[in-house]
Amino acid sequence: MSLLAPSILAADMAHLAEELAACEQAGADRIHIDIMDNHFVPNLTMGPDVVAACRRSTSLFLEAHLMVERPEPIIPRFGAAGANLITVHVETCPELSRTVEIIRAQGARPGVAVNPATPVDFLVDILPEISLALVMTVEPGFGGQPFLTPTLAKVRALKRLVEDRQLSCDIEVDGGVGPANAVACVEAGATVLVAGTSVFKAPGGTAAGVGCLLDLIGRGRPLRSSSA
Ligand code: DX5
Ligand code: ZN
Repeated sequence: MSLLAPSILAADMAHLAEELAACEQAGADRIHIDIMDNHFVPNLTMGPDVVAACRRSTSLFLEAHLMVERPEPIIPRFGAAGANLITVHVETCPELSRTVEIIRAQGARPGVAVNPATPVDFLVDILPEISLALVMTVEPGFGGQPFLTPTLAKVRALKRLVEDRQLSCDIEVDGGVGPANAVACVEAGATVLVAGTSVFKAPGGTAAGVGCLLDLIGRGRPLRSSSA
């Protein structure tokens, strides 16, 4: 079974509490929060206070995706804000094991991400120490970009690595995920799907966006039978 993690990068931030409630009621599993620093990626988004605001508004599992240079000094702030999982990029962490330990010390689960151009080989050694491996399926920095299909080969390779070594690490895809490719992601081995635009900008609204993706990946709720 794969999980759905709506990314609030695409949410209506003026109505964040309502957006989170719509996700929760429609059956989303997690909330994905994209932290960008205008250094590692050319965009500037949210910080620990937004994670804390989410924590006050929802009981869903919160994952903070840190697209930032030198994440170590700021990691405790995300832990204190209530992030359940903190993901850092392999490209920004020369001492990855140490960074993962800092995340664990906050009581959060550690995740590690790779950009589209970074081979999964960079994750091999760290896999036994982490809860989630994130495969970027677009270049990080912006929502609403088209899904890069060749990245699915990396998801398949990671699935083999996780299975061969009998690890419990989740495999997450992030970027451009929507109705056109959600099933392919799951078939390739993704256990967590991040979806921003396809959830929060869905034609029928946020709850419909969540419902559509859950239906496609076999997680739809049974239709309520009419009592008439
Ligand atoms: C991109 C972010 C993604 C983004 C996904 O740098 O990491 O989480 O919000 O948004 P969509 O689903 O719109 O591509
Ligand atoms: Zn993300």
